[in-house]
Amino acid sequence: MSTLRGGGGPRYKTGQTSDRPYETIAVDKLTPIIGAELSGIDLSQPLSNRQFEEIHQALAENLVIFFREQHLADEQHLAFGRHFGELHIHPAAPHAPGHPGLMIIHADKDSPRANGEGWHSDVSCDPEPPMGSILYIRTCPPHGGDTLFASMYAAYEALSDRMKQYLDGLTAIHDGEDVYRGLYANFGVADKPDYPRAEHPVVRTHPVTGRKALYVNRGFTRRITGVPRDESEGILRYLFEHMENPLFQCRFRWRENSIAFWDNRCTQHRAMWDYWPHIRSGHRVTIKGEKPV
Ligand code: SIN
Repeated sequence: MSTLRGGGGPRYKTGQTSDRPYETIAVDKLTPIIGAELSGIDLSQPLSNRQFEEIHQALAENLVIFFREQHLADEQHLAFGRHFGELHIHPAAPHAPGHPGLMIIHADKDSPRANGEGWHSDVSCDPEPPMGSILYIRTCPPHGGDTLFASMYAAYEALSDRMKQYLDGLTAIHDGEDVYRGLYANFGVADKPDYPRAEHPVVRTHPVTGRKALYVNRGFTRRITGVPRDESEGILRYLFEHMENPLFQCRFRWRENSIAFWDNRCTQHRAMWDYWPHIRSGHRVTIKGEKPV
């Protein structure tokens, strides 16, 4: 793992502060770089425009936001997601009966695997990958089952100017085929003939903040286009190790009835399956995004 040590102070200086105070919610940052817990808001109640604006602001400033002690029916979870855009339907994962927009996140003692065990940005193999995901965990193990989130703005900004120049204009192939085929057989999900595959810029510009973010991930990115295969492998290996530096991360400790809402355009996440044989269970609502540029 890279140390980022270079002398002259930290190589990555965030410089990001909010100049707009919040009026309707309290925002408690987990780190200066990524993650904040929001309080003073009950998502089961109708929200004012100002509350929605401040949730948007908190997401843009913190990349992933967390809510505690929320009690939402499935329809309310879906409606909260719809407020941020049209819902994205997962190309492979099981969903709650009658609700294709409610992806099942569940692991127990008989599970062959758990969701999101490797670093990834959700469904980045889609030509228009999801902008955000809203995960509502209702059942937690007694300990463990945390989710790690990493800022891809920070990962990009901490690269050397030489590396930024090299990556400028490059694209990479993201492929769902070897990820999704057979993945959900234990839930009784039959495979589709094809899974999404797409070419995206290695560095994308966030449509809301205008900041640049690294957009390659171990889960889906297979190769950089237009360079020899060994060069692509070497560069991707470096970028994957670089972006996993804990400096860019926060770690969320779930409790029952917590919600995490992350922006897939500028973050990656990884879920820990350290709680076997216990149950961790909930639903994810995912919001459609745009073609990365
Ligand atoms: C996911 O990748 O959406 C799963 C994240 C989690 O279970 O914490």
